[in-house]
Amino acid sequence: MSKIMSWTREIREITILPGTTKAGEAENFKEITIRPGDTISVVGPTGSGKTALINDIEVFAQGDTITKRRILVNGDVPPDEYIRDPAYKPIALITQNTKCLADLFVKEFIEMHITARNSDESGLSEKVIELANKFTGENITAGSRMTSLSGGQTRSLMIADAILISNAPILLLDEIENAGIFKEEVIKQLRKMNKAVIFVTHDPYISLLSDRRIIMGNGEVRSVMSPHGMEEGALKKISEMDRLLSKIREKIRVGDMISGDDL
Ligand SMILES: Nc1ncnc2c1ncn2[C@@H]1O[C@H](COP(=O)(O)OP(=O)(O)OP(=O)(O)O)[C@@H](O)[C@H]1O
Ligand SMILES: [Mg+2]
Repeated sequence: MSKIMSWTREIREITILPGTTKAGEAENFKEITIRPGDTISVVGPTGSGKTALINDIEVFAQGDTITKRRILVNGDVPPDEYIRDPAYKPIALITQNTKCLADLFVKEFIEMHITARNSDESGLSEKVIELANKFTGENITAGSRMTSLSGGQTRSLMIADAILISNAPILLLDEIENAGIFKEEVIKQLRKMNKAVIFVTHDPYISLLSDRRIIMGNGEVRSVMSPHGMEEGALKKISEMDRLLSKIREKIRVGDMISGDDL
């Protein structure tokens, strides 16, 4: 157990090795390496294989998925237990469909998870709720029922849980932008905590906030871009546009009329 534990703590890098395209041809990239603190977005049209790519990472594919890709951890095939035992899994996947079926209070749910993880950090459950509330506009309380949380609240709680309790060094987020959570804040917190994060996204702002973009097409990695600050000007403008859109979205949510003056 302690061996796996130390193995888990030492994640230095995850490597994606190429597989095959939808047409069964070899994928045309050498390898993609992900390290703590990296922010990567995965973009591409619907059906281009974005979810398949992050699923490969989540299951540590070894040529055994539809894409035939392989995933290495610190340059090696990870040990079996490491993949199968959820207590040591270094990856948290949060999707649009992430739901919690347990009918517990938020506090009970979090404490159950803390106990399962043997953590004795005091005040941890409060910290999780506090962090989750940085990501969502509608406050979650310790006494809320898990089943009554909205989609965005659930995802916010799961992200906070993954960061603080599971302590997962790598987070995979599949199209969470539509859940109405504060993505800028999520990225800020993840960077601060030196987590690697991979966003599957159709959102231009998240794409530009990431250090690298993986472009998918026909089930394959078409290219990997590292803009290295060359998009700074565009990022600034898109950030303003995004803020404006968020403001309008909020107004629509509370039933206000939108006029030209709002733009
Ligand atoms: N390399 C591949 N080889 C064979 N099939 C693939 C490959 N990549 C993806 N697929 C299959 O193609 C389909 C669409 O892929 P996927 O769901 O990953 O697309 P997506 O980019 O996430 O789309 P969306 O934006 O709609 O979520 C899935 O059935 C998936 O299993
Ligand atoms: Mg998808």
